[in-house]
Amino acid sequence: MNNTLEKFLITDKVCVITGGAGLMGYNHACAVLAGGGVPVLIDIDKEKIRKAKIGLEKKFENQTIETYQIDITCDKQLEDVKVELVKKYGHIDILINNAANNPKMEEITFNMGSVKFGNFPLSIWNEDILVGLTGAFLCTKIFGSQMEVQRGGVILNVSSDLGIIAPDQRIYQKEGIEESIQTIKPVTYSVIKHGLIGLTKYTATYWAEKGIRCNAICPAGIENGQSEEFINKLTNLIPMKRMAVKDEYQSTVLYMISDASSYMTGATVIVDGGRTCW
Ligand SMILES: NC(=O)c1ccc[n+]([C@@H]2O[C@H](COP(=O)([O-])OP(=O)(O)OC[C@H]3O[C@@H](n4cnc5c(N)ncnc54)[C@H](O)[C@@H]3O)[C@@H](O)[C@H]2O)c1
Repeated sequence: MNNTLEKFLITDKVCVITGGAGLMGYNHACAVLAGGGVPVLIDIDKEKIRKAKIGLEKKFENQTIETYQIDITCDKQLEDVKVELVKKYGHIDILINNAANNPKMEEITFNMGSVKFGNFPLSIWNEDILVGLTGAFLCTKIFGSQMEVQRGGVILNVSSDLGIIAPDQRIYQKEGIEESIQTIKPVTYSVIKHGLIGLTKYTATYWAEKGIRCNAICPAGIENGQSEEFINKLTNLIPMKRMAVKDEYQSTVLYMISDASSYMTGATVIVDGGRTCW
């Protein structure tokens, strides 16, 4: 293999993936395994972890996959995972902050009037921010501090095209439903995804001389069983005229967590079929 391709290898590197059992988390784990690393799937959902592990073991025989059923908003549980991993492997090399309370707005068909901005409940605001931002802060603090001790590591924050632009609420609206009770993409989604880019720039500069690189990826929507009506409305906003396929971010992720991107820090990489150009 030539030197350039070798840089994509993350052989035996330990990579913590939050929300690791979800749709994207699973694909991040595939990217880590393809690069020869050890994915550590952290997720709150036991059943999803079980299924993700079976799927990964089938695809990547004889490779190690670690899983932990924990809540990333609990610093004690994160500390315990860090201690266990350091004891077992001696190092934690990569963190992918991917977990989120992910409202699949396009699947919601009932009255979501209560989440309209004017009466958006403080409780939902707090819950979403707790997972999407506080969880990322805690993981960065706990696993990033271990990287600081090691004088090296990579952190990848999973933002969104909606970390760059505002949601176009028209694509979530359904015909025949009164305006006052139309579904909207919640404000927390925008705030969290923009916030993760802020966290990225902060830690990238804070740790730049300590050998820790921090970057953000902004993926756009993955096609995953949404209605034809929704797909049509969304793809009209995308120059490439399609949504992403499930495994389409894997190579960008591997690039961003490996030495292939060794001079990249504080960057926001947009992979969105061109949506944010329009
Ligand atoms: N799917 C997309 O089209 C898309 C597009 C752009 C950005 N993103 C972003 O990618 C990330 C992953 O999205 P996804 O589609 O895979 O979502 P998903 O809902 O499939 O996965 C999220 C995972 O996070 C876990 N989780 C939630 N709260 C947790 C907690 N407190 N502790 C530990 N785990 C917790 C869930 O159990 C779930 O498995 C999210 O940040 C999302 O905003 C997704």
